[in-house]
Amino acid sequence: MGWLSQSLNSSIGKKFVMAVTGISLILFLIIHLLNNLSMYLGPETYTALVKSLDGIKPLIRVIELVLALVFVFHIFNGVRLWLENKKARPGKYAVNGSVKNSTLFSRTMIQTGSIIFIFLVIHLNTMWYSFNFGEAHATHDYYYFVAEAFNSNIIYSLFYIFAMIVLGFHLNHGFQSAFQTFGWNHKKYFPLIEKIGFLYSLVMAIGFASIPVYFLFFYGGN
Ligand code: HEM
Repeated sequence: MGWLSQSLNSSIGKKFVMAVTGISLILFLIIHLLNNLSMYLGPETYTALVKSLDGIKPLIRVIELVLALVFVFHIFNGVRLWLENKKARPGKYAVNGSVKNSTLFSRTMIQTGSIIFIFLVIHLNTMWYSFNFGEAHATHDYYYFVAEAFNSNIIYSLFYIFAMIVLGFHLNHGFQSAFQTFGWNHKKYFPLIEKIGFLYSLVMAIGFASIPVYFLFFYGGN
């Protein structure tokens, strides 16, 4: 197993882990967004959908565990790469005019990632906990729980919206960066990957943020 940890600890290995975990999270977000958008189909549909997942609870638990590991690897490696970069360039962007070769999105991956991490902790503590063990689990009123959570707490909703914009920033660089790591940086096709990445980030940010916006401003309470 020495070869495995050696490969994963090399610079290329760490970038590879970032790309694989990043793409896994990108795919997970698509499924998560589709699930969230089903709220627009109304309380009955959404609650029925969440209840139907009860039938495959053991599978859901395994998926959650894998997802938690993916997040841990992604965050751990991201922080390590950031620390290494900092050590290699103590003069912050002073070397080789790297500001010119980078974008605001690429330079702020650790900051946007940290905000997403804080969001994640709060999100798990409110939504995930309540759906699995708390109030929403007890009442089975999943739709109303979410509606009330956003409708009754403007600070929570605004932070959620802010975090989704930040997520869009992280994804805008992350998407193309992952493809670059896999070697898909052909001069001819890379602009297309950048465009798809931008579109994906926009759809994710607007799609996720639209739910608190809806419940904050357009929800009548019944
Ligand atoms: C749903 C959440 C997230 C998604 C979808 C996501 C996605 C990605 C993707 C696709 C990349 C590009 C990987 C590559 O360069 O090959 C990336 C890079 C990065 N992510 Fe995330 N990420 C998420 C959450 C986080 C969190 C919570 C952190 C916490 C610190 C984080 C920190 C980083 C850092 C520092 C990088 C840049 C690494 C480097 O290349 O130097 N990410 N992310």
